[in-house]
Amino acid sequence: MNKLITFEGVDGCGKSTQLNHAAEYLRGLGENVVTTFEPGDTPLGMEIRKLLLAGVYVPVPETELLLFLADRAQHVRDIIQPALESDSWVLCDRYTDSTLAYQLAARKLGESAAPLRDMLNFAECGVSPGLTLWFDVSVKEAMRRMKKRAESGEKATRLDEEAVSFHERVSAAFEQQFELETKRISRIDAAQGIDDVGEQVRSVIEQKFGWAL
Ligand code: TYD
Repeated sequence: MNKLITFEGVDGCGKSTQLNHAAEYLRGLGENVVTTFEPGDTPLGMEIRKLLLAGVYVPVPETELLLFLADRAQHVRDIIQPALESDSWVLCDRYTDSTLAYQLAARKLGESAAPLRDMLNFAECGVSPGLTLWFDVSVKEAMRRMKKRAESGEKATRLDEEAVSFHERVSAAFEQQFELETKRISRIDAAQGIDDVGEQVRSVIEQKFGWAL
């Protein structure tokens, strides 16, 4: 099992805060940790991110999918693979499960269409996560948190502004994905307070990677 941990969930689920806490925890144990995110954590990827999320363009669903995958391949080759090869932990904010939830399910491109699954695998360049943490929170609560962030000046992306029904489809897809892959994906109850959620995250990491710590 590799030391790539992906953090997934609807917008506003709190995964980014928890990713930083998990990184601090691992570093505190003397581990090397690389934190990263999608889309946009390479110079080329940042250009793709702007195309995807700034709201200047509204890509058709097919283009949207291909751009997320282009970002991923660059990200894997430039950052994730080298970090894993140097025996670092890689904590990644969103990965293939987001594409499944947002593009294949919510954009209705076809959740089980085999050629699309092949494309998702292709973009991973052979690197699938050792562990995926799914931050499960209701869309209602997630939207409440997003609203709070917007009030404190954080700019919403094109996808944040999608209809509630879109975010409901995203949420249902994450749940379905979890049910299909309970071995790789661990459910975190993200409705709890920050410290409790952090405790759940640490406990799952210890359970899954006891051999490496
Ligand atoms: P971002 O501002 O990075 O926020 P978040 O903290 O929610 O991750 O926004 C990334 C957006 O891109 C988010 O709405 C999810 C979406 N996304 C996809 O639609 N497909 C993907 O494959 C990925 C990686 C992200």
